Amino acid sequence: MGSLLLLCSCLVALLIPIQALVDINVATANDIHHNLNRTTSPCLNFWNFACGGFSSASEYIDNFERVEDQFANAMVEFMESHLGENDTLAPRLIGQMRLYYKACTEDTRKIHGNARPQELVNHWTVHPKKFLEDGLNGVFMDERVDVAANDSMRWVIQIKMPDPAARYSDLRVLQLMRLYEEWYTWGVVELVEKMHQLQDKYRAENPFVYTWSYTELRQKIPIPRSFFIELLGANHTDEFDRLTFEVSDVEYLRECFRFLRDFASEPKDTYIRARHYVLVEQSEPRERNPRSCIHHMRAHLPLGMNYIYDRFIYQNREQDTRKLQEIVSNLKATFGVYLNANRLQLTAHQLAYVRAKLEGIQIRIGNLPLEKSPEFYNNHYESANFTEKNFLANLLEAFTLRTRLQNDGLLERNSRVDLRHYYVNDNVRKARTSPFYENERNTITVPMEFLQWPLFDHRQHAIFQHSLLGAVLGHEMNHAFEQEGILFDVAGNESPLGFEIRELQAFRDALKCAEEKPSVSLKERLADLNGLQLAYDSFFGLAHDSRKFEYRPYAFERQFSAPQLFHLSYAQFFCGSLPPVIAHDRDDERVNVSVGNLRQFAYDFNCETSHSSICEMWRPREEANSNRNVHP
Ligand SMILES: *[C@@H]1O[C@H](CO)[C@@H](O)[C@H](O)[C@H]1NC(C)=O
Ligand SMILES: *[C@@H]1O[C@H](CO)[C@@H](O)[C@H](O)[C@H]1NC(C)=O
Ligand SMILES: *[C@@H]1O[C@H](CO)[C@@H](O)[C@H](O)[C@H]1NC(C)=O
Ligand SMILES: *[C@@H]1O[C@H](CO)[C@@H](O)[C@H](O)[C@H]1NC(C)=O
Ligand SMILES: *[C@@H]1O[C@H](CO)[C@@H](O)[C@H](O)[C@H]1NC(C)=O
Ligand SMILES: *[C@@H]1O[C@H](CO)[C@@H](O)[C@H](O)[C@H]1NC(C)=O
Ligand SMILES: [Zn+2]
Repeated sequence: MGSLLLLCSCLVALLIPIQALVDINVATANDIHHNLNRTTSPCLNFWNFACGGFSSASEYIDNFERVEDQFANAMVEFMESHLGENDTLAPRLIGQMRLYYKACTEDTRKIHGNARPQELVNHWTVHPKKFLEDGLNGVFMDERVDVAANDSMRWVIQIKMPDPAARYSDLRVLQLMRLYEEWYTWGVVELVEKMHQLQDKYRAENPFVYTWSYTELRQKIPIPRSFFIELLGANHTDEFDRLTFEVSDVEYLRECFRFLRDFASEPKDTYIRARHYVLVEQSEPRERNPRSCIHHMRAHLPLGMNYIYDRFIYQNREQDTRKLQEIVSNLKATFGVYLNANRLQLTAHQLAYVRAKLEGIQIRIGNLPLEKSPEFYNNHYESANFTEKNFLANLLEAFTLRTRLQNDGLLERNSRVDLRHYYVNDNVRKARTSPFYENERNTITVPMEFLQWPLFDHRQHAIFQHSLLGAVLGHEMNHAFEQEGILFDVAGNESPLGFEIRELQAFRDALKCAEEKPSVSLKERLADLNGLQLAYDSFFGLAHDSRKFEYRPYAFERQFSAPQLFHLSYAQFFCGSLPPVIAHDRDDERVNVSVGNLRQFAYDFNCETSHSSICEMWRPREEANSNRNVHP
């Protein structure tokens, strides 16, 4: 044990970045200054002012890539060391992760561009029905294990039409048919076109969700029985009848499976194989090297990677936890003050609902279960057989493992969520780095990747922490109170009270205001606006007005005043070169719209003010504050 600790600290010593040698606040302020573009006015385009210099000052695309890279470097160093080799707590898990890493970095046979890897063809021949188990989802329908809408502790299987994003995989399938003779099969094009036609015909904004038993599902939709046998590894109808299904897009599913029932089997089989190949191809890192393999493993084997990082690399869990809890309780206290002002004029009953939900928000550092016993971790991947020579075989094994873990326990009678063992293990191909909120758990998870400089450091001055991470946590917290999140109560169950609040005129007016400038996603827009307002108020106090104060400069920052520094530090989350963004608006848009809806921003940078377009939802009205200030 002594030598293990010694090795640990050596590993860490190598990783200490330069900025630790100088004052962390000076380093942070310098970093912010490097990213500035002083040719722009902060009032005209704040993102460009705060971040316009980033791309010439940094070798990274953005600060996310920077912290992901730090994470990956540390993990590469671990994987290539002998650390944990004779571990007494989780030797099997560590061994499995090393095998996977070794094959990923050393097996030079590429999947991409190799139209039919012989091994995949063999796999299909030996396991002709293993596609679902092998992680293939979203072909004719989308299937996922989730919790019931009215009971967040009860597992259900959700079935719906495939996500529009699956079209990219279909396009690749059609491309394969054109490129490679061995893929071409008559009928595949027709099949794909028919599916798209049906999806276009039936795609609805908020489709109705039916709750059915297995027998009911089979009566309504001709999904073949073999589907469930494959998925669940069981074949007794009475076992299946313990399952609950939540089914949407019923018209689509019915017509789709009727069509498939009568369609020739050869093109169907080829299409499924091609989609499986595309999944494998898309999951392989573009270039396999130590760091890309780590990123790949973060997504596909989250428990193993997080366990290793947490135990062998992450140093500041205790300090970080304390800081994060402090920030969250400040945000909650401020939101509580908002609720006292009751801008939306909720009834006492509705207010109690929102307050309970606010109080109940949990924060979790790292996507890891609460369970602490080493056996749990050591055995979690037990059923996966990784080898040190074959990346493709390992990838298929990882897919099967993921599906098995997702479906684990579904067939137990009244299967419930085991909160001690719960962590997020969904079908991502790229791991999350940014914090995220889950309605059903009323929990914000902050990935350990995120808790690294320059995004966060527990030694930083509060102004850096409460602006950047504060606004990010404020954003996540506000997901609990936007038009979708509000529907879930403190325990993560959909509630009629939440629906009632959403229907209030004042609530709808707030949505309408935020919608006036078009956005990719309204709930993201709301979380952005409310999150920044909440973080600002939590740090400076409600109704702060910088025109009334003189600021003494910080020792580490002589040019910008505290409120200016707050905005600049907040913007660092969004600094980067601007790629097209999918689920959110572009970063410049997000920053500019957010600061534009914080009425104090204009005072802080001496901009001309125009109050007309400011959108606020929960924040007390300005008059409400000034009234309160009159009475000491
Ligand atoms: C943000 O940038 C856009 C141009 O990209 C500009 O129209 C808008 O006024 C800016 N807003 C702020 C507050 O910087
Ligand atoms: C700074 O902003 C100006 C005006 O938008 C732009 O033309 C220039 O390229 C930017 N400078 C850098 C270093 O990005
Ligand atoms: C693990 O045990 C083996 C065999 O006893 C030994 O050769 C090796 O050096 C040990 N590794 C570490 C990191 O202690
Ligand atoms: C949830 O909904 C299902 C189906 O509508 C119903 O059978 C069940 O009793 C409900 N459970 C709770 C806890 O309300
Ligand atoms: C299906 O049922 C039979 C007998 O009831 C059983 O022997 C077999 O193992 C089952 N197959 C699966 C995949 O569960
Ligand atoms: C694991 O895979 C290897 C290589 O494919 C095989 O030889 C071995 O029998 C497998 N072990 C188990 C327990 O399945
Ligand atoms: Zn969000």
